[in-house]
Amino acid sequence: MATIFRDLSYRYQWFYDTISRLAALSVGGEGKFRQLALQGLTINSGKDDRILDLCCGSGQATQFLLKYSQNVTGLDASPLSLQRAKKNVPQAEYVEAFAENMPFADNSFDLVHTSAALHEMQPEQLQQIIREVYRVLKPGGVFALVDFHQPQNILFIPGLWIFFWLFETETAWMLLKTDLLGLLTASGFRDSQQNFYAGGSLQVIQTKK
Ligand SMILES: C[S@@+](CC[C@H](N)C(=O)[O-])C[C@H]1O[C@@H](n2cnc3c(N)ncnc32)[C@H](O)[C@@H]1O
Repeated sequence: MATIFRDLSYRYQWFYDTISRLAALSVGGEGKFRQLALQGLTINSGKDDRILDLCCGSGQATQFLLKYSQNVTGLDASPLSLQRAKKNVPQAEYVEAFAENMPFADNSFDLVHTSAALHEMQPEQLQQIIREVYRVLKPGGVFALVDFHQPQNILFIPGLWIFFWLFETETAWMLLKTDLLGLLTASGFRDSQQNFYAGGSLQVIQTKK
């Protein structure tokens, strides 16, 4: 079941975007969801801060990051997603690469943002990605992410489970059992803030190198 819908959502952007928009209603709409990880951030000293949208997909969040800086890079492993991102958000630069082995120098970015992507990673891969994010961030730079979390309000459990059964794989279920904040802290991140939305089924973490 999951593979059919998952495959369709990745093959047809309109399908992915429709599902994202419907899911985002739980936090007040897509615009709100796309900027959830950025709330309260004072990232920019100016419009030149270097921002990385990690696992940028078709640029769904990349367009919002351009409000903070003109210097935004999107990275994704999928050539098809990057092709769409270049068309949807041509103002950003794009790099095709794996998040666990990024082709950037140490201390390159002021902000690394990632939305709805870490739940696709195997545990080892997730740890390697966290290490890579730490490496490419400048000292004092911010890692801001939004992803799934085990719901704290039981009313949100059926909706999340149906969503997972239709669209996700075992890695999303694994993320529900993962202490993401603990992993970040163990990798050296500090001054972390974790906030929950949609009955706890979404978590936002902002943390610093
Ligand atoms: C669910 S989409 C999220 C896209 C977008 N960030 C959003 O908020 O809608 C996950 C994205 O992660 C990318 N991805 C998955 N594994 C990756 C990896 N190891 N390195 C880079 N990108 C990866 C996929 O190609 C896909 O575009």
